[in-house]
Amino acid sequence: MDDHQNKERIIIVDFGSQLTKLIARRIREIGVFSEVLRIDKFKKIKDFQNIKGVILSGGPSTVTNKKFPDIPSNIFSLHIPILGICYGLQLIVKKLNGKVKSFSKRREFGRAILNKNLSSKLTKNFFIKKRTEVWMSHQDSVYKLPPGFKKIASTKNSSLTIIENTKKKIYGIQFHPEVTHTINGKILIKNFIFSICKAKKNWNPSNEKEKIIKNIKNIVKKEKVICALSGGVDSSVAALLIHKAIKKKLVCIMVDTGLMRKNEFSYTYNILKKKHRLNIKLINASKLFLRKLKNIKNPEKKRLIIGKNFIKIFEKQAKKNNKFKFLAQGTLYPDIIESRSTTGSKTSKIKSHHNVGGLPKKMKLKLIEPLKDFFKDEVRKLGVSLGLEKKILNRHPFPGPGLAIRIIGKITTDKINILKEADDIFIGELIDNNLYNKIWQAYAALLPTKTVGVMGDSRTYEYTCLLRAVISEDGMTADYYSFPKDFLDKISNKIINGVKGINRVVYDITSKPPSTIELE
Ligand code: XMP
Repeated sequence: MDDHQNKERIIIVDFGSQLTKLIARRIREIGVFSEVLRIDKFKKIKDFQNIKGVILSGGPSTVTNKKFPDIPSNIFSLHIPILGICYGLQLIVKKLNGKVKSFSKRREFGRAILNKNLSSKLTKNFFIKKRTEVWMSHQDSVYKLPPGFKKIASTKNSSLTIIENTKKKIYGIQFHPEVTHTINGKILIKNFIFSICKAKKNWNPSNEKEKIIKNIKNIVKKEKVICALSGGVDSSVAALLIHKAIKKKLVCIMVDTGLMRKNEFSYTYNILKKKHRLNIKLINASKLFLRKLKNIKNPEKKRLIIGKNFIKIFEKQAKKNNKFKFLAQGTLYPDIIESRSTTGSKTSKIKSHHNVGGLPKKMKLKLIEPLKDFFKDEVRKLGVSLGLEKKILNRHPFPGPGLAIRIIGKITTDKINILKEADDIFIGELIDNNLYNKIWQAYAALLPTKTVGVMGDSRTYEYTCLLRAVISEDGMTADYYSFPKDFLDKISNKIINGVKGINRVVYDITSKPPSTIELE
């Protein structure tokens, strides 16, 4: 985060929990700049002047092992407020001579009732009549307080669930306040940030716009930039920012794979080209993709073929014009955090198609990623300040491989057309019924088996359309959306009557985990 070097901040040390980035997001949502750091980066900090507080995240490790992810002990005597969450709490306890034990019989996953024992600055307005519901995910528990600490709250299975040492400004909690399942979790975070860390509001993504534009100007100078534009919110906002900085020296490439939703591609193309005056080259490669995907059933193979051919097209365009020195991508902050996670899990692979992350090194293009410090909701705010259309800004996420991974099994032109129609009806109804913006992601998919039906007096033998709609914070976990029965009836009728080739509609009622959001 070199661009924000002098900003006061809250540091979140990442011990590998999937929820770490959600903590950062929650803090930024309340207007305070926060940054996620790997342990090795954290250890290198010499000057703590701008650091108003440190949060030690959760993680899959256990301090009951001989070796565990650790931080320098001197952090506890700097008088900077510290909050440990889950593993972070256990680490504090271990380092300050308390005791942590692995309790396989008393582990807690999911909701738990938390009871108040003592008042604390951290929990002001957090409890409702001395209790509340919190989200737990742990096997290890604190069973002996470190000297100087007090017990603030407990659950049935873990007696020391919130602990504090106000003199040293060190706090620890066993549950996750950053997830929405913890009631009043945001209040607890606010209490830590404002009452304990005394942080001031200093973060509003829209205010960062001019700084980003200036930065791009300084980096690019007189050179040219090529940008892969998918039509989604990230690449559109990135392109608009770069366009503001260097105007016609930015060339955007939009590759039509033929696997986009009905009318969506042409809508974005027209808006960005005609209204926002971006220099866009449209490449229609739908025939090529269809040919390359012929008879391919395997989801991973589909992804690979699409990624490889996408890159080839892009590389050809860049080579045609040697003047390009930079490649622009709409990479977001979560992509950066995930790909450098302490656990080593490489979630970045999913996004490589979308972000053209797999471009060959020999292209020697330097990367420009103007959104690398921002979360998706912050990018949307930037988009608003750039005058980007709501229809593009609020668009649900759409995977790089497009409809190819929503047509289970072999892909044909017929199936693509059937799916496009069904999907269009579903999404159209969501918009008309004011449901679209309540849902994180929704789509229609086509299942590979035909089943028997009866329409009028005739027997039919056609495809099944699966509808999926989920609510989620960031796509890592998701719950299916509960539609009223009337809405489901209406959709089912409209699809069956309006799309030839479908005689059955099913609604997916699985959450993630155990399912994923996409089917392939
Ligand atoms: P899953 O299916 O893993 O999806 O629960 C999580 C989020 O990632 C999107 N997704 C992809 N995005 N290329 C992409 O650009 C892909 O290959 C890909 N696969 C899944 C998915 O739509 C959801 O938002």
